[in-house]
Amino acid sequence: MQVIKNYVEQNKQRFLDELFELLRFQSVSADPKYKDDVLKTAAFVAEKLKDAGADKVEVCETAGYPIVYGEKMVDASLPTVLVYGHYDVQPPDPLELWHTPPFEPTVRDGKIYARGACDDKGQFYMHVKAFELMMETGTLACNVKFMIEGEEEVGSANLGIFVKENQERLKADVVLISDTSMISMEHPSIETGLRGLAYMEVEVTGPNRDLHSGVYGGAVANPITMLCKMIASLHDENNHITIPAFYDKVADLSEEERSALNSAPYDEEEYKQDLDIAEVWGEKGYSTLERTGTRPTLEVNGIWGGYTGEGAKTVLPSKAFAKISMRLVPHQNSEEIAAIFSKHFEEIAPAGVRVKVTPHHGGEPVVTPTDSIAYRAAEKAIETSFGKQAIPTRGGGSIPIVALFEEVLGIKTVLLGFGLDSDALHSPNEKYDIFNYYKGIETLPLFHQYYAELSKGE
Ligand code: BES
Ligand code: MN
Ligand code: MN
Repeated sequence: MQVIKNYVEQNKQRFLDELFELLRFQSVSADPKYKDDVLKTAAFVAEKLKDAGADKVEVCETAGYPIVYGEKMVDASLPTVLVYGHYDVQPPDPLELWHTPPFEPTVRDGKIYARGACDDKGQFYMHVKAFELMMETGTLACNVKFMIEGEEEVGSANLGIFVKENQERLKADVVLISDTSMISMEHPSIETGLRGLAYMEVEVTGPNRDLHSGVYGGAVANPITMLCKMIASLHDENNHITIPAFYDKVADLSEEERSALNSAPYDEEEYKQDLDIAEVWGEKGYSTLERTGTRPTLEVNGIWGGYTGEGAKTVLPSKAFAKISMRLVPHQNSEEIAAIFSKHFEEIAPAGVRVKVTPHHGGEPVVTPTDSIAYRAAEKAIETSFGKQAIPTRGGGSIPIVALFEEVLGIKTVLLGFGLDSDALHSPNEKYDIFNYYKGIETLPLFHQYYAELSKGE
């Protein structure tokens, strides 16, 4: 532990400077206008992996953005850890809400503000620096493979193909990912599940052209009103989703599982205060932790149509649109859910409008084991570095590729994230605490060390 602490202490400033360099790249995968920067980011990551001591570093082309690969095989008899992360980020919009520019990392109050600071540049880069540390101090205890992709925020479609085509190269004993949250630094925790996702776009068409809202209003169905009614009908008075068969495969948790989950520290007053809301909302009969961690949900991500420019225009629009996504829990399947959503949404359309439903990306839910050597190694690493027992939690977010690691490669994952839910992922003023960044760099080598030790005993 002292070797680790000394190395981090001596290289603190450089570790931060390098992360800042990484954060300055505008690697937004969703918007083609950032293409050059996304590609430059991949090259930068490859360079840094090489500098840290990785072999066989390669920027692997795909039909979309490249995947950066690198490895250090020390000894075939040692276990192999496959580190996954993503160098792409969400769009920074709305720009006017940022206090400092999203791609000029700025420190305020010990926190780094930048798009990707936490999700996931700040987090995956901890692995690159932890790897450098282990190489430089001669403490690398496992073989390591890195796979850092550039399309996580748009669904990882090409990574899925890459994984299927590179099964031999990606052989490993465990996947290690830092792309999730902890409860807090006082209550270190490990996420043991991720929700799946089915993302849809809907288009509602009324009359064949925009109409004068005085001449036609009252006699023709307004697609925006119809869309709003249809969306509103998707939850009942208990905030239960009304789509037939939606819950069919959802397994209820046992009372023990529920009480274990609900024993995690959670302060509802603090939660509400942080978000400036008077009350929480959700499916009746479940706590907030259950609602986000164990229950499927449906959210409208965006809705548009008609006139939204300056001033007022009296118009009855021809079309209305919405992006709607559903978070899924174990045993639900994203394609099945997409299909039943489409069928239902078409069925509830009033006679005066037509509906088109188009699925976007999806991903399957996962539960990660808590009785594995790798999980124990993660628990031990946290105990050593935080001086506290790690609390298992269920995360509400999605990392679509995790289910595929299991399905295609047969490898289970450990989600050893150091972010906080309050780090404003995907929001303006995303941040990552410098403390968490260094803490991660200190904890990860311990994982490798304990994982190697515990694997020997098996
Ligand atoms: N890192 C997040 C997922 C996450 C965040 C998991 C916090 C647990 C806690 C990831 O980058 C992400 O944002 N995933 C997307 C899915 C993707 C298909 C766009 C998500 O969850 O919306
Ligand atoms: Mn992420
Ligand atoms: Mn994300």
